[in-house]
Amino acid sequence: MTSYSIEKLIKMRWKNEISINANINYYHKYYLFFKWWGNVLMKNNKLKTVIIDSSGNDEYYTPKYAVYPILEFLKPFKNIWCPFDLPESNFVKVLKENGFNVINTHISLGQDFFDLNIKCDAIVSNPPYSKKYELFERLFYIGKPFAMLVNETALFGNRKRFDLFKSNKFEQLQLLPRVEYFMDYAGQISKGSPPFRSIYVTSNLLENQIEFRYMDKRLR
Ligand SMILES: C[S@@+](CC[C@H](N)C(=O)[O-])C[C@H]1O[C@@H](n2cnc3c(N)ncnc32)[C@H](O)[C@@H]1O
Repeated sequence: MTSYSIEKLIKMRWKNEISINANINYYHKYYLFFKWWGNVLMKNNKLKTVIIDSSGNDEYYTPKYAVYPILEFLKPFKNIWCPFDLPESNFVKVLKENGFNVINTHISLGQDFFDLNIKCDAIVSNPPYSKKYELFERLFYIGKPFAMLVNETALFGNRKRFDLFKSNKFEQLQLLPRVEYFMDYAGQISKGSPPFRSIYVTSNLLENQIEFRYMDKRLR
């Protein structure tokens, strides 16, 4: 019996060297499973989301219109820590423009969020997507009110995160339309609407466990 790696099988299928029903060996079942799963993801237009989530690329920046909906909930506070933000971040800009005292820190300034505990009233940002579990674990540990703008897809679709949210107090600010992130602060040009919606996951900030707000994309 010939044994092929899954990669080899995929290549062979790609080149039409094997039929979809070829019974080569038991690895073939895995190939069929991945093919089927790929189709399911594609159909739901979620493949891009999965790729963004697992790409390890955290350099997606927030437009101003996505910062405005959180302002009304920050009214009781004065000192806001933005832990994933350079001075050019729109969180820093919008919060300052609205009278908050902003303390911004960022990994590229030698300030690792996981090593810091800054004196503040609340913590607000769009965090790195690649560290979702560690991020919320640390935020709940710090215990300050927070608001994190995140991709809502599969947020609870992982046992560790499911248990973390199950055992901590949090709220959700649901947003529409979708936030178009950009990759360069200079131009602030997005590549179009992403295949996922964003929400603010907050803690001790919203009166209700879930709130809904529309954003005005003309506010830039
Ligand atoms: C999704 S981006 C958002 C940036 C900014 N908050 C915004 O909304 O425009 C997350 C940022 O966090 C930075 N980052 C990643 N790990 C970090 C860490 N451990 N501590 C501080 N910043 C970090 C990344 O370099 C990236 O610039």
